Amino acid sequence: MLAKLIKFESNRDERGALIALEDQYNVPFEIKRVYYIFDTKEKVRRGGHAHKDLKQLAICLKGSCKFLLTDGRIEENIELNSPEEGLLLEHCLWREMYNFSTDCILLLLADKYYDEDDYIRDYSDYLKMILDVKDDELSKEI
Ligand code: TYD
Repeated sequence: MLAKLIKFESNRDERGALIALEDQYNVPFEIKRVYYIFDTKEKVRRGGHAHKDLKQLAICLKGSCKFLLTDGRIEENIELNSPEEGLLLEHCLWREMYNFSTDCILLLLADKYYDEDDYIRDYSDYLKMILDVKDDELSKEI
């Protein structure tokens, strides 16, 4: 698995459900930034980047959408369709979001403030960076 799926404990009673997100408890980092994506038009793909340093947790509060994740070697496609789970996106992971339902509200929690310099938006730059780093790690292990 390229990204961990975290199940949240839901406070359910006859009125409905409530989930609380707390850093270092069910969110494994200090939350510095929250943003959400909604009103996504048909056939749109978003993302298409990796982060050098940023960690994020993606939660589909309403509707559904899919994530394409790759580390440059393997690729995974994961559907988010429940507010009771979050997808933990570590740094250096290439992600694209697609197949948004028209009612989709995708919430993102991040461990850092917005910083354009943290983005790698070119896939060939990403591959070069990630494969160099991994080859370095592999040569140290041998
Ligand atoms: P963009 O990076 O294109 O979104 P995505 O990767 O989800 O497709 O962001 C769209 C715009 O919003 C862009 O002008 C940058 C801005 N933005 C912020 O101002 N703050 C943020 O925290 C984020 C994620 C984006």
